[in-house]
Amino acid sequence: MSNKLQRVIYLSDVNRDVFDSDALTSILKTARKNNASQGITGMLVCDYYHFLQVLEGDSDNVHAIYSAITSDSRHSGLKLIEDVPIENRLFGEWAMGFSNIVQSSVGSLAELDANEAITLLIAQSKKQVS
Ligand SMILES: Cc1cc2nc3c(=O)[nH]c(=O)nc-3n(C[C@H](O)[C@H](O)[C@H](O)COP(=O)(O)O)c2cc1C
Repeated sequence: MSNKLQRVIYLSDVNRDVFDSDALTSILKTARKNNASQGITGMLVCDYYHFLQVLEGDSDNVHAIYSAITSDSRHSGLKLIEDVPIENRLFGEWAMGFSNIVQSSVGSLAELDANEAITLLIAQSKKQVS
């Protein structure tokens, strides 16, 4: 453990051919189990085409989980939006919160910078569905 807090935010493209509600259930189950055991918290949102995820926690643990996530075939084209040290968590309440996004309500997830992504993730964390 490095004892330094880090926040990683990335965007990825959903691999539609392998992704369905069972895949989502499986991702959330694994994420919540692993993240809880490693002190990682965060939020995952998806629209039809993209995942947007924030991970916060011990720097080494966050980078190890992010590395595992990058090689997951359920998505591809990961784009790192932010990878920064932080003083405090913004998403400390959830091992991995989740919310679906109605695409037309936010425009394209692909256009977001780090501040816009955080604003969106916080707003979505207040209306989680599962
Ligand atoms: C969009 C997406 C988000 C994910 N988020 C997490 C996560 O927050 N934590 C986690 O442990 N695994 C997450 N995963 C799953 C990892 O890619 C990987 O399957 C998992 O870490 C393997 O854990 P296991 O060895 O315990 O099965 C995610 C996968 C996808 C596609």
